[in-house]
Amino acid sequence: MSLFVKKPLSVLMAEASDSEKGLKKTLGAGSLVALGIGAIIGAGLFVRTASAAAQNAGPSVTFGFIVAAIGCALAGLCYAELSSSIPIAGSAYTYSYATMGELVAWIIGWDLILEYAVGAATVGIAWSEYLNNLLVNVLGMGAIPYEWCHSPFEHSVDGLSHGMINLPALFIVTALTMLLIKGTQESAVVNGIIVITKVSIVILIIVFGWGFINPANHTPYIPPASTFTDHQGISHNFGGIMGILGAAGVVFFAFIGFDAVSTAAQEAKNPKRDMPIGILGSLAICTVLYILFAHVLTGMATTEDFRTNGKEASVVFAINKYMIGYGWLGKLVTVAILGGFSSVILVMLLGQSRVFYSMSKDGLLPKAFSTLHPKYQTPYKANLFILILVGLFAAFVPGDIVGDMTSIGTLFAFMLVCVAVIVLRKTNPELKREFKTPWVPYIPILGIAVCGAMIFGLGWTNWARLFGWLALGFVIYFGYSRKNSKLGNPDKQ
Ligand code: ALA
Repeated sequence: MSLFVKKPLSVLMAEASDSEKGLKKTLGAGSLVALGIGAIIGAGLFVRTASAAAQNAGPSVTFGFIVAAIGCALAGLCYAELSSSIPIAGSAYTYSYATMGELVAWIIGWDLILEYAVGAATVGIAWSEYLNNLLVNVLGMGAIPYEWCHSPFEHSVDGLSHGMINLPALFIVTALTMLLIKGTQESAVVNGIIVITKVSIVILIIVFGWGFINPANHTPYIPPASTFTDHQGISHNFGGIMGILGAAGVVFFAFIGFDAVSTAAQEAKNPKRDMPIGILGSLAICTVLYILFAHVLTGMATTEDFRTNGKEASVVFAINKYMIGYGWLGKLVTVAILGGFSSVILVMLLGQSRVFYSMSKDGLLPKAFSTLHPKYQTPYKANLFILILVGLFAAFVPGDIVGDMTSIGTLFAFMLVCVAVIVLRKTNPELKREFKTPWVPYIPILGIAVCGAMIFGLGWTNWARLFGWLALGFVIYFGYSRKNSKLGNPDKQ
C-alpha cells in the first residue's frame, strides 16, 4: 500500500457525524474567543518574553511578537478553512490524513507530540518557577532547594548549585493527569473565570507598570547585532533582524493554543462566521495585550536583570524590584498565574490524548492508546503513557530547551496545515467549505514563509532537535505503524 494512502473524506465525515452525536452546537463567537484565550495566555508571556529579551532581542522582543502574530494569523486562516470543511473534533493530524496521506499524517501526529506533550512540560517547568515564588514571596517560607527544582543540565547563575530533578514540574503534570483520567474537563464557567483572571492581571501590569518604564531601558530599542553566550555556555544571535526572528520563534510559544478553537468546530453554532472570529479574534486580543505587556516589562527591568537574578519568575521579579509599593500586584500575579498555567497544561494534556486516541483508532499506534477506562470512560492508558513522556521532559530537561522544541514543532505543523489547504483545493474542489481562506494560494504561501522564517531564527541546535525527533518518528512509522495501519492493511481487520 502506498505511503500516501489517504483516508477518504467520506469516511472522515461519517466518523464526524458519529462523534457529533451528543455534541450540541452551542458555541457562539464569544465563547470561541474565550476558549482560545483560555488556552493561549500562559508560560509564553510570563516566562518566555523575558527569556527572548535576555537572549535574543532586548526590548525589540515586541517586534518578535508582531512577527509571531502574523505567522499565526496566516496559519489561523488556513486552520479555519480546514476546521470548517472537515468539522471533526481533531486537529492537523486528522486534516492531513484526508489530504496528504498516511505518511504526512504520521509526521504531523508525531510532530504534534512536540506541541502538546513537550508544551505541557514547558508550562509545568514555568509552574515550578512561580511555585518557588509563591513559597518565598507570598507565604514567606524558604525556597525549594535548587537541585530539586531544576534539570540536571542546569546550574545557577552564580555556578554554585546544580540541578538534579524538577520535582514541582513533575508533581503538577502528574496531578493534572490524574484529574484528566477521572474525566475532569474544564467547564465553560471555569474557563470563563480563568480567562477573566488572566486578562485582568495582564491589563493590571500594563496599566500600573506603564508609569515605571525607564526610557534608558528602551535605548536602543533594537540592539545592534551581536552574539550572546548565556551562563550555560549556549550562544544566541542577539539584536538586529536575526535577534527579532529568534525572539519571534521563542515567543511564538505564547500563541500556541489558538488552534484549540479549531477543534471545537463541531460545536460551533455557525462555523462559517464564528470559527474565523474565534480563531482570529482570540489571536488579535492576545497580540495587542502581548505587545503592550512586553513593552512595559522590558521598560521596567533591564536585559541584564533577565539574564541574572530575574531569569526565573521574571514578571514578578520585575514587579517586586521596580514597582515600589506594588507588592500586592506581585502576589496577585503569582497566585493567578499558577492557576492559569494549570489550565493551559490541562488543555495540552487533553489535546495530546485526543491525538493519540485518533492515531490509535487508525492503527498507527497500539490499541491500548484508545482503550477506555471501564469506569471513567477516558483513554487512561494513553494518559498514563503521556504522563511518562511529559514527566521525563518536565523533570529532566531545561525549560528553554523544551520551550524551543515546542515552538519549532508547532511551526512545522502550521506549515503543513498551510500546504494542506492548497492541496485540498486541488484534490477536492467540490468539498463544501463553510469558511474559505482568502487569496489562496498566497495566504498559505505567506504563512509557510513566515513560519519558516521563525524556524530559521530558532537556530541550528533546534533544527537538529526537530530533525532528530522526526527521524525517530520515521523509525517508529516504518517499524510499527505502517504494518499496523487500518487503512494500509485492510486484510488485517
Ligand atoms: N500559549 C501557551 C502558553 O503560553 C502554550 O503557555
